[in-house]
Amino acid sequence: MSIETAKLDDYAFRLGSHELKPLMLGGMGVNISTKALALEVARLGGVGHLSDAMLPDVDDRELGTHFTAEKAKRFRTMAGLDPKPDMHFRLEDVERAARLYVEDVMKEKRGSGLVFLNCMEKLTMNDARGTLKSRLNAALDAGIDGISLSAGLHTSSFSLMEENPRFRDAYLGIVVSSVRALKIFLRRSSKTNRLPDYVVVEGPLAGGHLGFGMDDWMNFDLAQITREVVEFLKTEGLSIPVVAGGGVFTGTDGVRLIEGAGAAAVQVATRFTISRESGLPSAVKQAYFRAEADDIEVNGVSPTGYPMRMLKSSPCIAADTKPQCEAYGYMLDRGECPYLKAYREAAAEHPELKRHAIAGKTCLCFQMKSYKVYTCGATAHRLKETSVMLPDGTWYEPPAEHIMNDYLTSTNDRILLPTVPADVLAAHSIPA
Ligand SMILES: Cc1cc2nc3c(=O)[nH]c(=O)nc-3n(C[C@H](O)[C@H](O)[C@H](O)COP(=O)(O)O)c2cc1C
Repeated sequence: MSIETAKLDDYAFRLGSHELKPLMLGGMGVNISTKALALEVARLGGVGHLSDAMLPDVDDRELGTHFTAEKAKRFRTMAGLDPKPDMHFRLEDVERAARLYVEDVMKEKRGSGLVFLNCMEKLTMNDARGTLKSRLNAALDAGIDGISLSAGLHTSSFSLMEENPRFRDAYLGIVVSSVRALKIFLRRSSKTNRLPDYVVVEGPLAGGHLGFGMDDWMNFDLAQITREVVEFLKTEGLSIPVVAGGGVFTGTDGVRLIEGAGAAAVQVATRFTISRESGLPSAVKQAYFRAEADDIEVNGVSPTGYPMRMLKSSPCIAADTKPQCEAYGYMLDRGECPYLKAYREAAAEHPELKRHAIAGKTCLCFQMKSYKVYTCGATAHRLKETSVMLPDGTWYEPPAEHIMNDYLTSTNDRILLPTVPADVLAAHSIPA
């Protein structure tokens, strides 16, 4: 098929017994790939990812539970800047939060697509193994169609799910940025006698955290890594579909990865950040629309240790937020978090100050849940090519259905602009 005339909709993504549109919406935490967004992509025949980041807090906001307030109350006496080795999430709460959230989404699923959960290993929650096990198994119990293991090597994640009755029937995939990471995962999970059902290759232009070094991410290329992964699986005699993501801005970009690199589908996220269904507040979506290429950076403020891409205007950068571990604490690892440590050191150096602006690190869980980390892919400066400016100078937030259809039907890198409904136009007009 010629790359110029082919469209993503000409291809089918075969995953187990399912025939899907070759488009996955990547997981975007915290609650940016919302229930509404993931369900919409699934309704239209693709795979919509939820994110399992900070689900107790997401449930409090979406379902009226009180996990965060109860945790903060339980650990009130630990408030302060000391390390917090004894500050544990109750595993029954972690499990219940994930179950409530996933059940609530799955009962509304319609259409021929699937809803998966993006599960980040680096979300250590002061008991990396225990909390990961609870999150993974609760999602399976609650009927999730599949789980994508991300942000880490996940060397024991398959073993942690092995006893679950759905371990062999749910779709399980791994997100990698190199053949090396994939090899480690396959070796370490081989004792469960279960292969991943799909592999997502995430390249250096993706949003969120990057699986590359701070100084070398720019030397890598998604198509090249995808080809290497496809080749490796072929030489091992493994028939596992590879999904490529990071910088896929048009349907034609997707066709290039399918035709030129052997991908079976693509994973996209940045174009959906400004959709009506995205969880970002409207003011943040407008900041994404206005961004120019120079406004985007890869920095080291995330306490995970992974580089992260975001707008330079993200309020989380050099913020003076007091560590919020009593209520949140999702990044704690054996009682410590690089932000907590940096804040403690700043406080010791300047005891006369009430608050401390920390340049190198950020209070990630608090800032993410407050939508103060404007994380985005490298193509975010092109979002203005995908919508229409309204009379008052703001940009129209297109429905996810429009973005999905544009990806599937576009040819020759063309982007179809959305039609703005009359009521939206009227609401954004300038009074005479
Ligand atoms: C706003 C945003 C938040 C993201 N959050 C996560 C996340 O929580 N976990 C994760 O594994 N990937 C995350 N990603 C990466 C996406 O799932 C996806 O793989 C990648 O961004 C695709 O590239 P694109 O944004 O250029 O289309 C995020 C991406 C964006 C844009």
